[in-house]
Amino acid sequence: MSDIANDTLLRALRREPTDYTPVWLMRQAGRYLPEYNATRAKAGSFLALAKTPALATEVTLQPLDRFPLDAAILFSDILTIPDAMGLGLYFAEGEGPRFARTTADEASIGALREPDLDSLSYVFDAVREIKHALGGRVPLLGFSGSPFTLACYMIEGRGSADFATVRRMAYGRPDLLRRLIEVNTRAVAAYLNAQIDAGADAVMIFDTWGGLLSSAAYRAFSLASMRAVLALLSRTRDVPTIVFTKGGGAWLDDLARSGASAVGLDWTIDIGEARRRVGDRVALQGNLDPLVLLTDAATVAREAAAIVRAAGAAPGHVFNLGHGIVPSTPPENVAALVEVVHRESRALRAA
Ligand code: CP3
Repeated sequence: MSDIANDTLLRALRREPTDYTPVWLMRQAGRYLPEYNATRAKAGSFLALAKTPALATEVTLQPLDRFPLDAAILFSDILTIPDAMGLGLYFAEGEGPRFARTTADEASIGALREPDLDSLSYVFDAVREIKHALGGRVPLLGFSGSPFTLACYMIEGRGSADFATVRRMAYGRPDLLRRLIEVNTRAVAAYLNAQIDAGADAVMIFDTWGGLLSSAAYRAFSLASMRAVLALLSRTRDVPTIVFTKGGGAWLDDLARSGASAVGLDWTIDIGEARRRVGDRVALQGNLDPLVLLTDAATVAREAAAIVRAAGAAPGHVFNLGHGIVPSTPPENVAALVEVVHRESRALRAA
């Protein structure tokens, strides 16, 4: 029924049996690959790379040409939405993302509107071009930031260790934060639906900063808005969904009932314990500490095999890191990782 040669990822997300555990890596196309750095230099900047569909296609395929990964992920960024809302995204060299304007008060939040999807057409063009270039080898994942995580950058105007302004607003002006998140919720749903229409085979919501909140604030702002996004997704094709709250182990049961097909786990939770907690309700994705990839092939093999075994042979595990791959990762350790996940998971099923 699938027009994808290797649809192992889609089967695992649907908790159907697979011959082995599929694997892909957050930030699999990135600065640890010399060929990525070469294409980025050709583009001139990260944003120029992300906004040029031919170059975004080129870097999306680079890790697949090196490693037998089971999925491609759209090369883009979560901050495309606030950029399209007019906040003026730029990257200060070596300092991460910045916005020229913030939305941190009554006036700026009141004036905020969902972006015109035409201003994001470079993203949907990239999805179409990547799908064409993949020729059905593996599925293509689309993605978005969560409404709350986008709000973090929109309010603070940049990355932050603690997003203190955002947390103060969550408790002191919940009405304002709610209004901002409502706009983001509609924007994220429309954005993901356009990626699905353009050909994305599965979509993931990155909630990088939800884990900074109190339990009550997490449920009110982050979880509720992700549930709303999931409920707004197009059902014309059966596109599996993944939700990932970094630091979200405390809310695993809520995430498992969010309506997503799969829950992404960071490395702080034991995946076997997570499986026992959620039963067979959802697929689980994760959860190797990305810093394991800074050791050696034998250590990578030991740590990855432990996760494969802890997740078990029952359907519904997608192997990934617990967060994005770091730029100093040796590519040969990634090769060792993919090989061991495939080998160990085949052996586990045979046993
Ligand atoms: O996973 C993939 O391979 C797809 C590409 C992807 C990127 N960013 C490329 C990127 C994805 C899925 C993202 C998501 C993203 N972007 C998140 C959520 C996931 C997470 O990591 O928690 C966040 C918070 C962002 C915002 C963002 N974009 C930051 C904080 C940075 C700077 C990071 C750094 O290490 O400098 C970016 C830039 C960015 N996005 C890079 C890449 C490959 C590095 C840019 C470069 O080439 O200089």
